[in-house]
Amino acid sequence: MCGIVGYIGDQEAYPILIKGLHRLEYRGYDSAGISLINAQGTLSVYKAKGKVSALEKSVEGKDVSGTIGIAHTRWATHGEPNATNAHPHFSQSKNLSLVHNGIIENYKALRTELEKNGMTFCSETDTEVLVQLVEYMMNTHRCDLYTAVQLALKNVIGAYAIAILEKSHPDQLVCARKGSPLIIGVGTTSSGRKEFYLGSDATPIIEYTNQVIYLNDEEIAIMDRTGRLDITNLSNVKQTPQLVTLQMNLDQLEKGGYPHFMLKEIWEQPNALRTCIRGRLNVVDKDVLLSGIIDHKDKFINCRRIIICACGTSWHSALIGKYFIEEACQIPVEVEYASEFRYRNPVIRPDDVVIAVSQSGETADTLAAIQLAKEHGAFLYGICNVIGSSIARATHTGTYLHVGPEIGVASTKAFTGQVITLCLLGLAIAKEKKSIPEDLFHLLVDELQKIPDKMQWTLENNKDIDKFAQMFTYCKNFIYLGRGYNYPVALEGALKLKEISYIHAEGYPAAEMKHGPIALIDEEMPVVVIAPKRGMYEKVVSNIQEIKSRKGKIISVVTEGDEVVKNMSDYSFVIPDTRDCFVPLLAVIPLQLLSYYVAISKGRNVDQPRNLAKSVTVE
Ligand code: AGP
Ligand code: GLU
Repeated sequence: MCGIVGYIGDQEAYPILIKGLHRLEYRGYDSAGISLINAQGTLSVYKAKGKVSALEKSVEGKDVSGTIGIAHTRWATHGEPNATNAHPHFSQSKNLSLVHNGIIENYKALRTELEKNGMTFCSETDTEVLVQLVEYMMNTHRCDLYTAVQLALKNVIGAYAIAILEKSHPDQLVCARKGSPLIIGVGTTSSGRKEFYLGSDATPIIEYTNQVIYLNDEEIAIMDRTGRLDITNLSNVKQTPQLVTLQMNLDQLEKGGYPHFMLKEIWEQPNALRTCIRGRLNVVDKDVLLSGIIDHKDKFINCRRIIICACGTSWHSALIGKYFIEEACQIPVEVEYASEFRYRNPVIRPDDVVIAVSQSGETADTLAAIQLAKEHGAFLYGICNVIGSSIARATHTGTYLHVGPEIGVASTKAFTGQVITLCLLGLAIAKEKKSIPEDLFHLLVDELQKIPDKMQWTLENNKDIDKFAQMFTYCKNFIYLGRGYNYPVALEGALKLKEISYIHAEGYPAAEMKHGPIALIDEEMPVVVIAPKRGMYEKVVSNIQEIKSRKGKIISVVTEGDEVVKNMSDYSFVIPDTRDCFVPLLAVIPLQLLSYYVAISKGRNVDQPRNLAKSVTVE
């Protein structure tokens, strides 16, 4: 939550910062702000409520010159989303301006203390105490900004990524992180000197340089116009920056002709999954090769159980992973909401493998869950999309999804990427454990290879969902049902609808209906049933019958050629036949499209739904 951008170099900072904010807007869009130091040494701060475009409008005609600056797009945690609470925040003397991503947990105590010492506050945010505290340290210790930041952060409890400008030193930029992500991009100016970019992720940086440094927790960096970059920890011990080359290109960050990132990402799924399995699934030799487990096979073969920690959509894919790994590997798997797991004193043993599933690799709860597991000596495996993310770096090993950047707040291609990656992991372990017969293993490898083509077929053959979706514009509730592997798909379908259309939706295991929720069914209630001609098909048909008897409207996901369920339904989406365990990869597609088009028909902002942010780096 919250996006930070920064720049120091020879170029005009404003266009770089604004473009960067647009790229990071998925992280928060309550308000935006920018701070610059111009050639005359004036430190300015401009802020506006709402999106980055509102900020751009509000600065029209104002002086936005300067070759150093910081900027912020906010997802409010403390203080309502208005211009006063927007970042950057000034220090009392207006010598400093600061942007922050995270939460300062002891901000009240710090604020009281600072107020006692004569400092006055303008906003309701936790962030403002940071900038005031840094100024207070500079004044009381008569030290420079860098030292003051070190001193201040030692008094802070919570999570932060910060960037600070100092009016009296317009040639330097200071930043620090703990818990929230921050990346430094290292470029070269026209005069051959180093210039520096800051970003909460790589998206604001990639246009200018692919050379980056991932700041670690409790590290502070200072960059200046001579090309100097120094990093120390809070105790002033010098750190050696590790330069990493980003594997990302700019096209991946554009909409490519689609009206929304979400629609683009839905349609990208076949190719994204091809990239995900490339080099990992070998149909010729019938093999699965995951470099992440090569040196750690014993951990998986000998583990007592696997615990998967995740949130939201990633939790749904984890549930599918559980079903697959238990079936294929005969290893007990528990799936935990990371936010619960981290606080409930769970039993974790050194012979447990803990897998974190996270698109962003920055979700604070998931990160905390694996840190807890690390303390208990468990082996940690990360399944992340964002390369170099905090979770990817905090785990012992893992597998990247390689589905490309996901910008739409509603996760789509990351979900299917996670499911297929968990299937690859399950197959790789099963092969080592010899827990499934060889011929079945071969069949699964062959079928998994066909999934991207079958996804493409699904997309091509469900093109009229847009018209059909309009019928539900004014619906107040939806129910989604599935059994076995498709129960998590029902949960995911319901979440997609909720988050982008704001229609209330619930996912249930189909057979649970009769234990209560069936009371909700009447002629007003659309019920989406995932009913492939596989597994518990007959049972699901009975569940559909029960709903029809109570006049519920049936929208089904059926296997191509299944006329029975089709005829029982008010509307059907078709998917090609595949093995039970891979149905989620196809069945979720019409549900993603349904939620997208219902949200469009309601005029919602699907890429930036209200109250949400893509990357939840706060608790
Ligand atoms: C997905 O559509 C959601 N926006 C959300 O549930 C998301 O999956 C969750 O916040 C977890 O994020 P992560 O995968 O980046 O950890
Ligand atoms: N806590 C800060 C605020 O509310 C930053 C929020 C965040 O990073 O999500 O302004």
